[in-house]
Amino acid sequence: MSQFKICAFSGSLRQKSFNTALLHAAQQVAPAGVSIEIAEIGDLPLYNEDLRVDGSFPASVQRVRDQIAKSDALLFASPEYNYSMSGPLKNAIDWVSRGPNQPCDGKAFAVIGVATGLLGTARGQWHLRQSMVSLNGFGVNTPQIYINNAAQKFDAELRYTDEAGRDLLRQLIEALVKLGTKLKA
Ligand SMILES: Cc1cc2nc3c(=O)[nH]c(=O)nc-3n(C[C@H](O)[C@H](O)[C@H](O)COP(=O)(O)O)c2cc1C
Repeated sequence: MSQFKICAFSGSLRQKSFNTALLHAAQQVAPAGVSIEIAEIGDLPLYNEDLRVDGSFPASVQRVRDQIAKSDALLFASPEYNYSMSGPLKNAIDWVSRGPNQPCDGKAFAVIGVATGLLGTARGQWHLRQSMVSLNGFGVNTPQIYINNAAQKFDAELRYTDEAGRDLLRQLIEALVKLGTKLKA
């Protein structure tokens, strides 16, 4: 069986991001035959239609679009910023949402997130899901992963240490692979 490729996005650009750390945990628990590559979005310009010269996207945007196009499914981990997904992630989604050949069209996606507060990115995740509906993505509905009180779930080296949480993360990746495989059939 060929490798199932997941293109992942962290909504946080900071070095010690819990959300990026959660994606690293996802890479560790992913079943055999599943690869998770984290796409860089920190170098994307702020969305501006004027930057599309002769219809071409800026090189960094094209790179991300190509990464998505080559993947079998998408995985988003975003902090909640003021009850929504982070600005950098929304910017990336806006860039990839434009035609032609919109790369998220018909693609499976899953959303996870970790917050230092109590609600574990629940509100932000719903905004992100809405935006992905606009791109005709198909979201995994269960399990849902809302990680709160980040400082208690990650150690000093930013390893996700919650065993039950790691198991749920593995289940989510399996659900994403299942949905992605179905959509491609
Ligand atoms: C601009 C900003 C807005 C935030 N708004 C929220 C929020 O609405 N809800 C929440 O739970 N945490 C909020 N936080 C706190 C984040 O959950 C916390 O900073 C988290 O660690 C960010 O994720 P990261 O570690 O991946 O960077 C906010 C943080 C920032 C910087």
